[in-house]
Amino acid sequence: MSRSHPRPPVDPALLNHGAPDALWTNLGDWTGTSDYTAAATALAVRVGEAASLGPGDSVVDYACGYGDSLRLWVERFGVRRVVGVEPDPQVCERVRARIAGWGLRDRVSIVASRAELLAPRRVAADVTAVVCVDAAYHFRTRLAWWQMLAADLPAGARVAASDILMADRRRPGPALRWIARAMGIPAENLVDASVLRTALIEQGLQDLQLTSIGASVLDGFATHAPRRGLAMRVTGYSLRALRARGMIDYALIRAIRR
Ligand SMILES: C[S@@+](CC[C@H](N)C(=O)[O-])C[C@H]1O[C@@H](n2cnc3c(N)ncnc32)[C@H](O)[C@@H]1O
Repeated sequence: MSRSHPRPPVDPALLNHGAPDALWTNLGDWTGTSDYTAAATALAVRVGEAASLGPGDSVVDYACGYGDSLRLWVERFGVRRVVGVEPDPQVCERVRARIAGWGLRDRVSIVASRAELLAPRRVAADVTAVVCVDAAYHFRTRLAWWQMLAADLPAGARVAASDILMADRRRPGPALRWIARAMGIPAENLVDASVLRTALIEQGLQDLQLTSIGASVLDGFATHAPRRGLAMRVTGYSLRALRARGMIDYALIRAIRR
């Protein structure tokens, strides 16, 4: 996996994006900031940039959480249309209310489904780009989801995701498997960048780039994330322990369907 180049500090214009009502739940990119909303926004921006999102795009955003990224793709990248996919119907209802409040109902919508069960062209027949911010490690399985994308997307469509990977090909031991289960990560998804790269190439995806951003995401979260709530604290503690043992990494992944 290639190493990330040093990045300039977060654009100050991002610091207030979506605040004060932001509801991001990703791990964040903490380069140059210790503010959670700024870090969460910055991680999504990296995914949007990796997908080269722009005004002509019809975007499918898998696992969009409470929808902050849906707004970001329109307001920062100027995309034409976005559809989010999120499994919990109650979360989807809340996102619909937020979309209406943002005045974006003509360009943004959401459907309730698990990502692995809904091919991108069924979400948006004119899809040109797929994004997934900090969630594919939950899918059953991540590889099945990538396979579905490779089989369904039209030629030229771009895919970008940020994702947790193993740092190397070591077999995950019982402690890691236990932590993964507690974090909702199926054991099949505990693979490293070389395994993922080989699988994506076999599926016919091209222009593949996997960039390691573990230091700015995982170490940043472990150091700066607010210690509020049990889930945040357990996640911070687990990431610190796994990083100290050199077991996990975090990747920015980009591919094109040729
Ligand atoms: C860490 S959160 C990231 C949410 C959002 N992308 C963000 O940046 O704030 C992971 C998200 O994955 C969603 N998720 C978990 N399993 C999923 C699945 N099988 N299909 C789609 N979404 C899933 C969760 O509901 C949650 O919203």
